Amino acid sequence: MVADDKVFTGSIPEIYDRLMVPLIFEPYAHDLAERIARAAPHDILETAAGTGVLTRAIAARLPAPTRIVATDLNQAMIDQAAARQPPRDRVTWRQTDALALPFEDRTFDVVVCQFGAMFFPDRVKGYGEARRVLKPEGRFLFNVWDRISENEFADVVTEALAKVFPQDPPQFMARTPHGHHDVGKIREELSAAGFADIAIETVEHRSKAPSPRDVAVAYCQGTPLRNEIMARDAARLDDATKAATEALAHRFGSGPVDGRIRAHVIAATG
Ligand SMILES: C[S@@+](CC[C@H](N)C(=O)[O-])C[C@H]1O[C@@H](n2cnc3c(N)ncnc32)[C@H](O)[C@@H]1O
Repeated sequence: MVADDKVFTGSIPEIYDRLMVPLIFEPYAHDLAERIARAAPHDILETAAGTGVLTRAIAARLPAPTRIVATDLNQAMIDQAAARQPPRDRVTWRQTDALALPFEDRTFDVVVCQFGAMFFPDRVKGYGEARRVLKPEGRFLFNVWDRISENEFADVVTEALAKVFPQDPPQFMARTPHGHHDVGKIREELSAAGFADIAIETVEHRSKAPSPRDVAVAYCQGTPLRNEIMARDAARLDDATKAATEALAHRFGSGPVDGRIRAHVIAATG
């Protein structure tokens, strides 16, 4: 991971929330909320909560006494999430690095992290922090994207941008969101962090949008891929988005589009 990969600031949180969340994050938020509900927890910690798609799914699915502490490294993502939060909600938001959790040992029944672990500079440390704040029977639930070739929109956008910047292709999507899909390594890192019982399931969904342009704007402008494009040539953000739109239209058609997304969902205890 390079330093800018974890920077979700400026225009990114609003575009991420409006376009990326419905495109690829919502179905996995419902999946994780169902898994959490089966554990019937009282105290839940969410790390890397972003703009709160999973937080809202948990609050809608779990009964009222459940306490939810939702955290993220980037205050701008929390601000976007908090703006959508109903008054007197039972969610507490707090800016927090998942690698240095400001909570006592053995505080939570569940720690959950949706598509955040790939951004941790030291995953064993991040997993170790989750384990430290879990109660003895507690459960760590998280998901990571499978390889980029199994996630069609991300793959097409990355290939299109390689043609716009052939000398230095933007590799954010392949390097970070889709760079940590090796289930053997995930098991090793969780074991190194002290987890004994690890279950991994691969879950596929369809990603849908009204047009290829919505998908291109979501990826090129609503994720840290924007930072990578701007670092190459700030004046070419629109050109890059247009090239991605055309590549997506060529592959999926110019009307409503529909592509495969695939992720690993991990549950760890012990
Ligand atoms: C792909 S987004 C996922 C957000 C949210 N969970 C969702 O499903 O929409 C990754 C998130 O990880 C956060 N993040 C990156 N590094 C982090 C860290 N060390 N600790 C906590 N959050 C981090 C980013 O700010 C961003 O909100």
